Amino acid sequence: MTRAQQRARTARPPADDRPVAVASGVTKVYGTGDGAVAALRGVSAEVRRGQFTAIMGPSGSGKSTFLHCLAGLDAVSGGSVLIGGVDITALSRTRLTRLRRDRLGFVFQSFNLLPMLTAEENIRLTGRLAGRRADRQWFDTVVDALGLRERLGHRPSELSGGQQQRVAVARALLTRPEVLFADEPTGNLDSRAGAEVLGFLRQAVDGYGQTVVMVTHDPAAAAHADRVLFLADGRIVDELASPGIDEVHARHPQRSEEWRAALAGGSGGSPLLTERSMRRMEG
Ligand SMILES: Nc1ncnc2c1ncn2[C@@H]1O[C@H](COP(=O)(O)OP(=O)(O)O)[C@@H](O)[C@H]1O
Ligand SMILES: [Mg+2]
Repeated sequence: MTRAQQRARTARPPADDRPVAVASGVTKVYGTGDGAVAALRGVSAEVRRGQFTAIMGPSGSGKSTFLHCLAGLDAVSGGSVLIGGVDITALSRTRLTRLRRDRLGFVFQSFNLLPMLTAEENIRLTGRLAGRRADRQWFDTVVDALGLRERLGHRPSELSGGQQQRVAVARALLTRPEVLFADEPTGNLDSRAGAEVLGFLRQAVDGYGQTVVMVTHDPAAAAHADRVLFLADGRIVDELASPGIDEVHARHPQRSEEWRAALAGGSGGSPLLTERSMRRMEG
């Protein structure tokens, strides 16, 4: 069975086919004068609902800047960003904060959990700030899918890195965001914990129709995505659909060395990658 068939069987039908996020000619310049850095030089891209998009590229290519601009965490210097049809570059700070809180989810490399709160309190935090109570059933679904049931009363310092990141993913998913943005979510994890987090992001897309946009410099992580955008020097230079890791390497051999080094550091032997490669062969 192909992935598309699998998804057709398990996922909710998408509400509509319009892209959930659209970047048009986005530029970003940090600083002024001689010290100015053009981090984005006109990036246009669409994110479709229910898709897992990875943004790859070497260090300094603008991946994080693009994710932050797309998610309204950073202001663009030029161009526009639509989220669900709303131009977020034209919103007031207050409205933008509210839109982020109500409609978007975030996972960062450094987990960003509050140390004095338990796992459960951290997971419920965003919803509480938005004045909403997550329905119990969805809370249970997310907590069980992420294997956090036995850890709900623990504080972050009592959890492994992988568990902390799963708490962060649960927190991001609890409000059912229109887009979950993740910046190097496996960057601080060992290969096994990283593979678990990636597997869950994949499952959230296939099983719940979640839209995910993930920045990574790791081709093994990018191979979990439906689509990979390649950034270099602040521009999109290539795009791959449903890539296997070998295709990612083959497409950008000039960067293979950096990527091989990243792989040697960890995620190369990911069991999920193997499983996914098998799914691709079946498909
Ligand atoms: N806050 C900032 N101030 C100045 N320059 C920045 C800032 N953030 C990023 N940059 C620069 O913008 C470029 C892109 O950075 P970034 O988006 O973090 O790349 P990546 O995530 O691909 O490693 C780099 O040259 C970086 O040094
Ligand atoms: Mg970055």
